[in-house]
Amino acid sequence: MLTTNINNDFKVISNRRLTHKTWVMTLGGDTRAITAPGQFVNVAIPGKYLRRPISICDYSHERGELVLLYDVVGEGTEAMSLMAPGTTVNLLTGLGNGFSTDPSHDHPLLLGGGIGCAPLLNLARRLRTMGKSPVAVLGYNTAADSFGMERWFEEIGVEAFIATVDGSLGTKGFVTDVIREKGLPGDYFHACGPMPMLRALCTGLDIPGEVSIESRMGCGFGACVCCSVETANGAKRICKDGPVFRKEELIWK
Ligand SMILES: Cc1cc2nc3c(=O)[nH]c(=O)nc-3n(C[C@H](O)[C@H](O)[C@H](O)COP(=O)(O)OP(=O)(O)OC[C@H]3O[C@@H](n4cnc5c(N)ncnc54)[C@H](O)[C@@H]3O)c2cc1C
Ligand code: FES
Repeated sequence: MLTTNINNDFKVISNRRLTHKTWVMTLGGDTRAITAPGQFVNVAIPGKYLRRPISICDYSHERGELVLLYDVVGEGTEAMSLMAPGTTVNLLTGLGNGFSTDPSHDHPLLLGGGIGCAPLLNLARRLRTMGKSPVAVLGYNTAADSFGMERWFEEIGVEAFIATVDGSLGTKGFVTDVIREKGLPGDYFHACGPMPMLRALCTGLDIPGEVSIESRMGCGFGACVCCSVETANGAKRICKDGPVFRKEELIWK
């Protein structure tokens, strides 16, 4: 089994804009170091010292492809949006622990906020092949931020609900409002999104679960300790020990 795959060149297969800020990039290359949904890659950006960590939205070992969903928020992601098909991109793959599928019960809730919806797609695929019945709830600020991901979930047989803070699409409010309004019978939750959303889920949902958290990163593989976070089990590196943590491990001040 391969672990972190240093100096792994991929080729951009496609790279297209989905909304005013979100892009989807498909890359071809050696995906064998990727072992779990929720892992991330660290993308080399020409001219930038630091790589940019991006979650793996989906991957296929058979096709040797992976899919990244990314928001353009600064120079690094802007540079990614300019990478044309055929461009060579150096990635570190196999990073992070990913979502745990073992404790998933029969009705896992997949809860995403904004670009945090990305890693839930491959998780949904994995849970479906395990015979589980996941349901996704995708939260955005407004309809213009939605990148149509609910259709991708539906293609793999997973029902997906939408919440928007301003009520312009789906249920008005947050993912928790959808869970309440629809009476979703979740017995475990997997979540990724902004910290206020994750805090609300970890402190408010009365079922076991785990969340994928973010921080600014340096190396992405545990060497520089710049992504350290204090947990109930001591200091942990988000890149190496996470980014997914069980809800009871995290300390919300
Ligand atoms: C494990 C992990 C997985 C991620 N997955 C995705 C993903 O799937 N799609 C995606 O679009 N982004 C993802 N991110 C965030 C992404 O890494 C940053 O948006 C990106 O590095 C910004 O680079 P930039 O050069 O464009 O912007 P910069 O110029 O570096 O920053 C622009 C703005 O974004 C903020 N920012 C930068 N990095 C982060 C971060 N890590 N967390 C929160 N805010 C940040 C900065 O504070 C600043 O306001 C992930 C981050 C981590 C740690
Ligand atoms: S980014 Fe270097 S240890 Fe986490």
